[in-house]
Amino acid sequence: MYILLMGPPGAGKGTQAANLVKEFSIPHISTGDMFRAAVKEGTELGKKAKACMDEGKLVPDDVTIGIVRERLGKPDCRKGFILDGFPRTVEQADALGEILDGLNIKLTRVIDITVPSDELIDRAVGRRICKKCGATYHVKFSPTKKEGVCDVCGGETYQRADDSAETMKNRLSVYEEQTKPLIDYYQKAGVYSRIDGSQHIDKVYEDVKKALDVLK
Ligand code: AP5
Ligand code: MG
Ligand code: ZN
Repeated sequence: MYILLMGPPGAGKGTQAANLVKEFSIPHISTGDMFRAAVKEGTELGKKAKACMDEGKLVPDDVTIGIVRERLGKPDCRKGFILDGFPRTVEQADALGEILDGLNIKLTRVIDITVPSDELIDRAVGRRICKKCGATYHVKFSPTKKEGVCDVCGGETYQRADDSAETMKNRLSVYEEQTKPLIDYYQKAGVYSRIDGSQHIDKVYEDVKKALDVLK
């Protein structure tokens, strides 16, 4: 399965991708996670990405397309993948089409997880992530058993630098202006499914599987 997860910041793309990875054992490719890893390592890519991410702006298309092209060329993507947070511009979508043509791959489905804006701000501000294994929690909606400690591996949880209410406003307007046009783009391609992301995490996952035709 070649899945593309779309949706505004905080909609639950990462959360649903983790469910899909567990069930289908295909790689999860999140450009946001790749940029955060590069920032942590202090690479050139990380330096370029950090300034944009801290302001809630997009990292330039050429940089982003380059890392995705390289990642999708790896052998583990042959049997499937979950793209999360890429593409976010029409230019990125065109580039993805060209990369996939080259690999002789067709997208199975584009799944758009939608959630009202006020709820998205709460989700981002309350999100906590494990430093060690990357598991995602929420202080209200999916808390760790012990505050600040990951249920999976016992690692310490932290808050993302761009998860403030202020930066979220920028991220949401960037989404409206630059990413929303992709709804029409993929609707026209006949691979688009919209899902109500404001439901319980498990119900959202059920709808994801229905959209993928693996659950009737
Ligand atoms: P990225 O890391 O992709 O961030 P994003 O798109 O803003 O999305 P998030 O990761 O914030 O949200 P999510 O949908 O994964 O939600 P999650 O599952 O964690 O990108 C960060 C930055 O990198 C961008 O701003 C940009 O600068 C750069 N970048 C990345 N890709 C790029 C690209 N292609 N081009 C250019 N720049 C790029 O859930 C959120 C919270 O809600 C969690 O706490 C979770 O526990 C909770 N939650 C999830 N589902 C539910 C539910 N159903 N009910 C209640 N709570 C829920
Ligand atoms: Mg995410
Ligand atoms: Zn952990």
